[in-house]
Amino acid sequence: MPDTITITDDRTGKTVTVPITDGVFPSSAIRELDPNLYVYDPAYLSTASCRSSITYLDGDNGILRYRGYPIEQLAEHSTYLEVAYLLLNGELPTAEQLSIWVDDITHHTFIHENMRKRFVDGFHYDAHPMGMFVSAIAALGTFYEDAKAIGDPDARHNSIVRLIAKSPTLAAMCYRFSVGLPFNYPDNDLTYPANFLNMMWKIGDYEVHPALERAMDVLFILHADHEQNCGTTAMRVVGSSQADPYSAAAAAASALYGPLHGGANEAVVRMLADIGTIDQVPAFIDSVKAGAGRLMGFGHRVYKNYDPRAAIIKSAAYDVFEVTGKNPLLDIALALEETALSDPYFVDRRLYPNVDFYSGLIYQAMGFPIEMFTVLFAIPRTVGWLAHWDELLNDSDQKISRPRQWYTGEAERDYIAVADR
Ligand code: ACO
Repeated sequence: MPDTITITDDRTGKTVTVPITDGVFPSSAIRELDPNLYVYDPAYLSTASCRSSITYLDGDNGILRYRGYPIEQLAEHSTYLEVAYLLLNGELPTAEQLSIWVDDITHHTFIHENMRKRFVDGFHYDAHPMGMFVSAIAALGTFYEDAKAIGDPDARHNSIVRLIAKSPTLAAMCYRFSVGLPFNYPDNDLTYPANFLNMMWKIGDYEVHPALERAMDVLFILHADHEQNCGTTAMRVVGSSQADPYSAAAAAASALYGPLHGGANEAVVRMLADIGTIDQVPAFIDSVKAGAGRLMGFGHRVYKNYDPRAAIIKSAAYDVFEVTGKNPLLDIALALEETALSDPYFVDRRLYPNVDFYSGLIYQAMGFPIEMFTVLFAIPRTVGWLAHWDELLNDSDQKISRPRQWYTGEAERDYIAVADR
């Protein structure tokens, strides 16, 4: 059987035969038939907008790999910074490369004092930390002369290092401001996750618990990339205009903020708290089926099977609960999962728990307020955004993103003076 597809324009009888590679064919075939013909694909359900060699996702079989390495192996053996190197460079680092990379990130964790004293202080006392974080990422770029020099490899590297190194600092700064606590400076003797936890929680003799440090690192690994999701697509679209990476990352973070994307972990915990007790689970499931709302943390555009990250998070949750005590919402979550997975509504639609279903329970048990959950997602996703941005800039197929539209408005008509309307 030939690996081609033949399309005939019945209006003209014109035919094109195009190769299918890895299940993809170029849309230029459509333009060959008729340069004014467009594919209508709202939400890009059938559109591959780029080639990418970063992350492989098989939604039917619940597979996720970074640069070929299964997420399960990385979560068990690697660290977030090693994974960050892998995502950006395509290969795991040697011991020497890893040491240089970790040192580089560790020594870029501080932020300009004006970010803290003037920028953050300008927010209202109850500003949402994710709103602050989005703005802080964009503002960060204004402190660096080379932020816009995206064609210069050294400047690009500097921006990548700064964004990865400083995103935990910005996140902790937003949190400490929101609760009125003094800012903790980064401690360069600590690992990446321990430094973040220390900046978040240190008051007096605080010491990071090794199990929580590891859990934080695993959560960072699991959230580091997820191919062309809404936030990463925003990064690529904004990056395609050659905007600086700080502005593009702020756009990506804004996309992540939405409740259907990275905001879902926040929505899950609120939903579990609203359900309140296990005996309310069946009634809640019935209300979802009746269309009253969605079961947050369930369903995924690509995974039509168990999200592999959800399985890892579920088991990591028990390690965290050993230190923190069990989150009382866990039993409701387990009952919800069990009920949903045996209900034809969810089974037929292939709705399974996604990464957000259990992550919020861990975050909450670790002491993070609900408003910080999406920020906790954004910190590690920064590397995914940057890896895709870098790939985009090196891809000669890419141009400024500019989809076409299907115009459904009025035909030309004459202006009517206000008195005559
Ligand atoms: N609860 C109940 N029903 C659902 C859910 C859900 N969580 N998700 C999808 N459905 C139903 C839809 O109502 C629809 O039913 P219908 O065919 O009878 O109309 C069907 O399943 C298909 O749903 P779509 O909205 O077409 O699926 P889509 O791929 O567009 O949406 C999404 C994916 C946005 C993740 C969706 O499943 C959802 O809203 N989930 C809840 C929010 C959530 O957990 N988001 C986090 C995603 S993971 C992440 O971003 C990191």
